[in-house]
Amino acid sequence: MSWNVFITREIPEEGIAILKRFCQTVEVNPHDRSLTYDELLQQVKGRDAILTMLSDKIDARMIQEAANLKVIANYAVGYDNINVKAATEGGIVVTNAPGVLTDSTADMAWALLFSVTRRIVEGDRLTRTGKFTGWAPMFLLGGDIVEKTLGIIGAGRIGTAMALRSRGWNMKVLYTTYKSRNTILEEDLGAQKADLETLLRESDFISIHTPLSEKTRHMIGTRELSMMKKTAYLINTGRGPVIDEMALVEALRNKQIAGAGLDVYEDEPRLKPGLAELDNVVVAPHLGSATVETRARMSVMAAEDIALVLSKQKPKNCVNPEVFTR
Ligand code: GLV
Ligand code: GLV
Repeated sequence: MSWNVFITREIPEEGIAILKRFCQTVEVNPHDRSLTYDELLQQVKGRDAILTMLSDKIDARMIQEAANLKVIANYAVGYDNINVKAATEGGIVVTNAPGVLTDSTADMAWALLFSVTRRIVEGDRLTRTGKFTGWAPMFLLGGDIVEKTLGIIGAGRIGTAMALRSRGWNMKVLYTTYKSRNTILEEDLGAQKADLETLLRESDFISIHTPLSEKTRHMIGTRELSMMKKTAYLINTGRGPVIDEMALVEALRNKQIAGAGLDVYEDEPRLKPGLAELDNVVVAPHLGSATVETRARMSVMAAEDIALVLSKQKPKNCVNPEVFTR
């Protein structure tokens, strides 16, 4: 078939090769940047499939204009950038990339936890600028991790992987989930399901892994931050808008919590005013899935699902299965 596919950013070759074997036209955004909304709108017209990034906003209008579109494969596990309801109404299958980025994202959450708690980035800045003048007993003291309490907000795949890594530090684990229970965490770690307030009040480290939805937007705001211990750290490798970022800037500035490690932002890629000036936060540029191996697996997963949908088979990772029973 003469399938026509557009990939909105250059991705690892593995996935592109699969698409090239299967489709007549495979075009990749030639720029080293995201397309603007209008550029993307022009590109989706006439395509049978698009492979999209979490930074592409695929709204109802875009879906309407893409009259031939059959599948949107999002190069991410989160898909809050896509109007899935509009896609379903248009008979368009939406797929994502779960599982393959679970470990790399859990590793990133730990990397941020260590960086902020042991003040590695702050120390790196001082060392590079000649401000390390010798070992000193009161210089850059951080916090202990061993035997502290880890609170996982959203114990799905990534939250579970994050928590399982705490075994080495013999931590107590609390978690929230929309599902009834997380038996892996309970059986392997003796973790306890908690309501959000208990988790906020009792945890020394809180790591956010919940997807972004209308329910979770600003789930952590002024009120929630005020429930956290003054010695606690907040880690976010999920989606920025789950935290009210201005409220977090205030809490960090007033030392209401000890620190934060962030990989995602409310208005990505912009940071809220004041955040970058604070020493008690580590800010990473959305690198959760950014390993060579993970990004290659994500490209294969997205390409295979496009090929499955175009050949009228069920994709492996569909987020709107109701599209098949409309
Ligand atoms: C990354 O943030 C993802 O959702 O894959
Ligand atoms: C993603 O893989 C999740 O469900 O946490």
